[in-house]
Amino acid sequence: MPSGVDQVMPNAARVYDYWLDGAHNFAADRALADKIQQVLPGIRDAIRVHRAFLRRAVQFLVDSGIRQFLDVGSGIPTVGNVHEIAQRANPECRVVYVDKESVAVAHSELLLAGNDRAAVIQADLRDVEKILDHPQTKRLLDLDQPVGLLMLAVLHFVPDSWDPAGIVARYRDRLASGSYVTLSHATTDGSPAGLAEALRFYEQTPEPMYLRGYDEVLRFFAGFELVESGLVGCAFWRPSGPGDSCNSTEMNALAYAGVGRKP
Ligand SMILES: C[S@@+](CC[C@H](N)C(=O)[O-])C[C@H]1O[C@@H](n2cnc3c(N)ncnc32)[C@H](O)[C@@H]1O
Repeated sequence: MPSGVDQVMPNAARVYDYWLDGAHNFAADRALADKIQQVLPGIRDAIRVHRAFLRRAVQFLVDSGIRQFLDVGSGIPTVGNVHEIAQRANPECRVVYVDKESVAVAHSELLLAGNDRAAVIQADLRDVEKILDHPQTKRLLDLDQPVGLLMLAVLHFVPDSWDPAGIVARYRDRLASGSYVTLSHATTDGSPAGLAEALRFYEQTPEPMYLRGYDEVLRFFAGFELVESGLVGCAFWRPSGPGDSCNSTEMNALAYAGVGRKP
């Protein structure tokens, strides 16, 4: 157990891990996850569909020539992580994971032991310079070459007062032309029944969620050109098979997702 881990207060990384059938969560996380699932029964499907988007997006980036990835808000490593997908597609791929949460970082370190093309940094995503100038980033990523920046299911934990669009822009400005941002963000636009109640559960944790509408999420792509399929419900982004969606339209679109290229 990493030091400084609060097992009493649930947190987003471990709740998400539980929904993905991961093993890195505590009783408090499971209790919150179950309460949310009671009011929003499709949540596990939504998470699975989102994970399938991650897989397609990383494959798209590798197919587009990207060989280096910066995954900010990477979470607890469960099956189908960015480095697994990218390095299976091309063993040359290098990945830097970033998360602020101790359990996520500790398990990432364990998982990545022996992989000299991937590393994890514990940092808050606001510390853009600290992350981009970190020795591990310098070792693994060449910022003069295109990078695939991933910000998946993380900006909805960032309040407007932090200026999330400004944070994305600070990353963008340090990345080479030809880099990509891949971003997903939960939304209230589909107004699924139970969502408001689910959000109230999050308000009782140190990590409340700030769901945003289409135009607000689109603003995060400023300075990037959205590739096809644009910004859409994550199940509708270049679907490749039946496992990429579920039978609920609302859960297929609980998170917007898109990929943008820096010209
Ligand atoms: C829902 S998980 C998403 C995990 C992964 N990106 C995915 O899509 O499968 C959100 C992650 O963002 C992390 N996170 C939240 N706020 C953060 C911040 N300010 N800086 C860094 N990581 C953050 C949480 O610790 C959590 O691991």
